Amino acid sequence: MAYESLRHFVQQLEAAGELKRIPVEVDPILEITEIADREMKSPGGGKALLFEKCRDAGFPLLINAYGSTKRMALALGVADIEEIVRELETLLKAKPPTSFREAIGLLGAALELRHARPKLVGSGVCQQMVMKAPDLRVLPVQKCWPLDAGRFLTLPLVITRDPDTGARNVGTYRMQVVDERTTFMHWQLHKTGARHWRRYVELKRRMPVAVALGGDPVYAFAGTAPMPDGLDEFLLAGFLRRKSVELVKCQTNDLEVPANCDFVLEGYVEPEEKLDLEGPFGDHTGYYTLPEPYPKFHIERITHRADAIYPSTIVGPPPMEDFYMGTASVRIFLPVFKLNFNEIVDMALPAEGAFHNLVVVSIKKTFPYQAMKVMHGLWGMGQMMFTKMIVVVDEDVNVHNLSEVVFRLTANVDPERDMIFTKGPADVLDHATPVIGFGTKVGIDATHKIKGEANCREWPPLIRMDPTVKKRTDDILRALR
Ligand SMILES: Cc1cc2nc3c(=O)[nH]c(=O)nc-3n(C[C@H](O)[C@H](O)[C@H](O)COP(=O)(O)O)c2cc1C
Repeated sequence: MAYESLRHFVQQLEAAGELKRIPVEVDPILEITEIADREMKSPGGGKALLFEKCRDAGFPLLINAYGSTKRMALALGVADIEEIVRELETLLKAKPPTSFREAIGLLGAALELRHARPKLVGSGVCQQMVMKAPDLRVLPVQKCWPLDAGRFLTLPLVITRDPDTGARNVGTYRMQVVDERTTFMHWQLHKTGARHWRRYVELKRRMPVAVALGGDPVYAFAGTAPMPDGLDEFLLAGFLRRKSVELVKCQTNDLEVPANCDFVLEGYVEPEEKLDLEGPFGDHTGYYTLPEPYPKFHIERITHRADAIYPSTIVGPPPMEDFYMGTASVRIFLPVFKLNFNEIVDMALPAEGAFHNLVVVSIKKTFPYQAMKVMHGLWGMGQMMFTKMIVVVDEDVNVHNLSEVVFRLTANVDPERDMIFTKGPADVLDHATPVIGFGTKVGIDATHKIKGEANCREWPPLIRMDPTVKKRTDDILRALR
């Protein structure tokens, strides 16, 4: 189902009993965070919150809209994410690829099969109102945590083009407000937006940037999804919403933005402007990321819908709303991983691992050292390179149940034999690495050991009750009820 607008999604959330309206005035400086954080940490992720009166701002703010399994599915227009996974699996099975590169090509082709290509239209409600003298102060931009350097837009869709190929990228990168028409652009070292920017710097050309906020909730999800560089996130969004994303041209540059989004910030990044320190910012890791140099985004125009809603989120000590977005990404991209590693059964990024710190993967093990093959393979796949710790377990382990995972981890591992250490690019947000963006990784093989693996004795069977006794016990207990 394609939502016509963010307001349409809010209506659907309300109809499903998934929305709380906050009619009293609340300050975007810290107060919204405290209320939202309590909601996000309540059982199952609480409800989405619509702050109707934000102090000193002209628009309402929506937060925690993706923050539960049910709402994440609703945002993607389905009752259960598995519907999307099954469909993608079917599309990908049409022709099994022989390499990762081919798998990526196939993913693009599969998404297009659903006629999901974005299409250009003449006008859009996102340009209903025009601010030729842009002023970010109309937006209820949050200062999230006490030591944050200022206010941060947290759910923007940053739209850029590769100056060589013209390929579009859409990434969700936070934006610290500098003044009423300037923000930082926090595209991290390894992200596609940063690659585009480095190229503009080499070419000494001004880099046009458009930032879209709101619209169909699929857009912000697509902006965070680990789409391979070169594949358009609006193609993924079109696939998910079963309808092409309609785009309109910006008024001051040649970039295109979703016609039905709520706000558009049009502007540019200067290639030769000195970088300044962005941050600190209370981050996904549960800690503040310390100031680092980033470029600035200069806003030339703001356009918006007359009835716009400002979308926001907070990150911080888990669990938070982003856990549900990350989990949905892993589920949706699992069929692509499986194309390359057909032994993979399931994969989880536990909330406690704050995104990249911990991945648990279950495999159907058929040959010695297969767990190690999977670890190395995953570290080489796109944003999986950021993963600090990979734990591989057997296919019968529910990777989403940390208690089960820790049981197998502690029971099956001989630390010296089963752990491998390697080095590689790390998440720049990881404060524990000795240098920024580079660190050690550990892979732990918690699978049962088999013949052909060194230093293993005979492996004992896992204790399991006889199925007929289980069935008989079910009957007895039912009769006693
Ligand atoms: C709430 C939220 C905020 C994020 N903020 C940033 C950020 O400030 N900088 C960044 O590089 N990535 C950030 N990310 C992660 C990127 O959105 C994600 O890695 C995305 O896949 C990047 O897209 P790209 O490969 O097109 O660059 C954030 C993700 C979420 C869910």
